[in-house]
Amino acid sequence: MTQDELKKLVAKAAVQEILNLLPEHSLLGMGTGSTVNFLIDELKEYANYFSGVVSSSDATSQRLLSNGFKVLDANTVQSLPLYIDGADEIDPDGNMLKGGGGALTREKIVASLASQFICICDATKLVPVLGQFPLPVEVIPMASAQIQRVLEALGGQVRIRNSKVDPNLPFVTDNQGWILDVKGLAIENPLALETKLNQIPGVICNGIFAIQSANMLLVSAIDQVQKTI
Ligand code: A5P
Repeated sequence: MTQDELKKLVAKAAVQEILNLLPEHSLLGMGTGSTVNFLIDELKEYANYFSGVVSSSDATSQRLLSNGFKVLDANTVQSLPLYIDGADEIDPDGNMLKGGGGALTREKIVASLASQFICICDATKLVPVLGQFPLPVEVIPMASAQIQRVLEALGGQVRIRNSKVDPNLPFVTDNQGWILDVKGLAIENPLALETKLNQIPGVICNGIFAIQSANMLLVSAIDQVQKTI
C-alpha cells in the first residue's frame, strides 16, 4: 500500500472510532494535515451528526465548511470531548512531534480544550524516541534571530522555514508567526524540553506534544489498523 492508502485506511477506522465514542450532537476538535484531510472526506456523510467542529487551521476550516460541517470558534466552547489529529512522529508513550504543516499552535490550543486526543497515522510515524523529524518552533518574527541563537546553544541546527509559494520568503503561519525547524536536539525527555522551549521569549509554541499527548493511537500498517496506548 502507498502512504496515502495507509492514511485513508486509518481515516476510515477513525470514523468508526469517533462514532462509537461520541453520541449525536457532540462537539469535535479537528487537526490539520493530509491524514486529517482523508478523515474529513470519510466523515462528511456524518457532518450533521456533530453540533459543531473546532478547527486547528484555516485550511481545515475551509475543508470542513466545504464538506457541510459547522465550524465553531474555539472561544465559543468550554471543552471538547475529543480532538483528533495526525502527527509527524509519535513515541510509545503518546508523545508527538507536530507542526510539519505549520499548524502546531492552533493544534495545541484545540487539543488543550479536549479531554481525549486520538492520533491517527501510518506506521512510518512510529519512533522509539522523538527527534528524527526536525522540531518546528513557531516564533514572533522580530524574535527569530535571538531564538535561533538560543536553540543553537542548546545543540540544534536551525533553519527558518520558507514559503512554498515564494521560497525567498519565510513561511507565515495562520497566526502571522514564522517557523524555525530545528534538527539535532536530543528529545529524551519530551515534557522537559517542551516546557523549556516555552520559556524562551518570543516562542509562540513548539511542536512537542507531551503536555497534550495522545490517549489513543490508531495506526495503519500493511493492510490493517491497530489501536494502542
Ligand atoms: C500540521 O501542522 C501537523 O502537525 C500535522 O498534524 C502533521 O504534520 C501530520 O501531517 P500528515 O497527516 O500530513 O502526515
